[in-house]
Amino acid sequence: MQLAVIGTGYVGLVAGVGFADIGNDVVCVDVDETKIARLKRGEVPIYEPGLDALIETNVKAGRLTFSTDIATAIRAAEVVIIAVGTPPAADGSADLSAVFSVAETIGKNLNGFKVVVTKSTVPVGTADRIEERIRRHTTQPFGVASNPEFLKEGAAIEDFMKPDRVVIGSNNARALEVLRNLYTPLVRKSEDIHEMDARSAELTKYAANAMLATRISFMNDLAVLSEKLGADIERVRKAVGADPRIGPKFLYPGAGFGGSCFPKDISALIQIGQGVGHELEVVRAVESVNKRQKRLLFEKLRRHLDGALEGRTVAVWGLAFKPQTDDIREAPALVMIRELLEAGAKVRAHDPEAMDNVRAVLGDRITYCENMYEALEGADALALLTEWQEYRQPDFERVKRLLRTPTLLDGRNIWDPKALRALGFWYTGIGRP
Ligand code: UDX
Repeated sequence: MQLAVIGTGYVGLVAGVGFADIGNDVVCVDVDETKIARLKRGEVPIYEPGLDALIETNVKAGRLTFSTDIATAIRAAEVVIIAVGTPPAADGSADLSAVFSVAETIGKNLNGFKVVVTKSTVPVGTADRIEERIRRHTTQPFGVASNPEFLKEGAAIEDFMKPDRVVIGSNNARALEVLRNLYTPLVRKSEDIHEMDARSAELTKYAANAMLATRISFMNDLAVLSEKLGADIERVRKAVGADPRIGPKFLYPGAGFGGSCFPKDISALIQIGQGVGHELEVVRAVESVNKRQKRLLFEKLRRHLDGALEGRTVAVWGLAFKPQTDDIREAPALVMIRELLEAGAKVRAHDPEAMDNVRAVLGDRITYCENMYEALEGADALALLTEWQEYRQPDFERVKRLLRTPTLLDGRNIWDPKALRALGFWYTGIGRP
C-alpha cells in the first residue's frame, strides 16, 4: 500500500518505518525542514533502540522516504496517517490545531478514495471533526478512522511489529477493510484486531492509559501507607500481583510516572469528562497522587537533613522519565532537581542518554557528569530517579568513599536496604520499612 505519515515524532516515525518494513511504500512528512533534512541524512532525532538501523534498511530498500511536501504525499497515498503532536493546552485539554490543519490540507488534496487515520491521541469525537474539516474542501469519497497507538518508548519497534492488539475505529466500512488489510501481517490472529466505531476507539486509548496510571498511583499511595505502618510495599506488590486477576505488571511504586502519555492523557481525560458534565473522580485522584509522589524523595531528603538544604550538594542518577529513552517530558527527576535548586542546593547529575535534553532545559544550573561516579564527588546524598541497568549494582564501596555523607534515596526500589545499611549507608526507598 501507498502510505503518507504526517508528523515525524515518536509515533509517526515508528509507524512509518514499521509499515515500510512489512512492504508498504511510505513517505514520512513533516513541516520541520531541518528535521526532514536530518532524517534524509540518516540522522534519527530520537533515541529508540533499533530505530536507526530499521530506518536505514528501509530507506536503502526504497520503501521509506522523507519529505516536506505534504500535498504530493497526500495525493499519492491510499492511506494518510495523522501523527502530529497534540500538546496540552493551558487548561489541560489536547491542542488539536496541528491535527485540524492537516485535515484541511488533506481535504484540499483529495483525488479519489483515501483512508484518513488518526494515530495521535485525540479527544473522543475528533474523528467526526476531522471528517467535517475535510468535507469543507472536497466532494471526493473518503473514510476517517481512529487507530490509537499503544507503543512504549524504549520498546517501540517491538510493540509496533508485534502488537498485543490493534484498535481500529471507523464508521466507514471501506476504511475498516483497508486498515484490516494493512494490519493483518502484524497480528498473530485476526481477533487481535478490534474493530469498532471511531468514538469507542478514541476512548480506548485514554481508558488503557488511565487504567495503567491508576495501578501505579494506587501502589504509590499504598507505599506511603506501607511506610507509615512499618510494612514493606515490595512484599505486598509481589503477593498482590500473584493473583492472576490482578497480574504483576505496572504495580511498581516509584518516584511517580512521567513521559509524554500518562500525565497528558490523564488530564485530557478529566477534561473530556467535564466537557460532558461527568467528573472522573478516580482519574483525578490518580493525577493528584502522582503530583505528590514526584515530590516525595525531595521531602524525604529535606526531612533527613532537618530542612538544611542550602549549600548542600545532591547527586542525581537518572534523568529520563524511564530507562532506555532520552525523553525527559514530565520526568520525576526534573521535579526533584527544581525543588533542590529552589532550596539552594547544588545538583550533580548523570544519565546515560538524557543529559543533552536536560541541558537544553536547565542549562548550567546543574553540573552534568559523564561518569556516574563523578556525580558523587563531594555530594551529601545520592538520589536515584531512573532505574537504568547500570545503576542496579554499582560499586557501593566506591559510592561510599565518594559521597561526603553516605545517604541514599532509592526512588525505584532497586537496591537492597538491608545490605546497604550493613555497609553503613542511610537508606530510604519508596514504601519500605
Ligand atoms: C505509555 C503506555 O505504556 C503506552 O501504552 C502508551 O502508548 C504511551 O504511554 P510510555 O510513556 O512510553 O508508554 O512508558 P511506560 O513504560 O508505560 O511508563 C510510563 C511511566 O510510568 C514511567 O515514568 C515509568 O517509570 C512509570 N511506571 C511504570 C511506574 O512508576 N511503575 C510501573 O509499574 C510502571
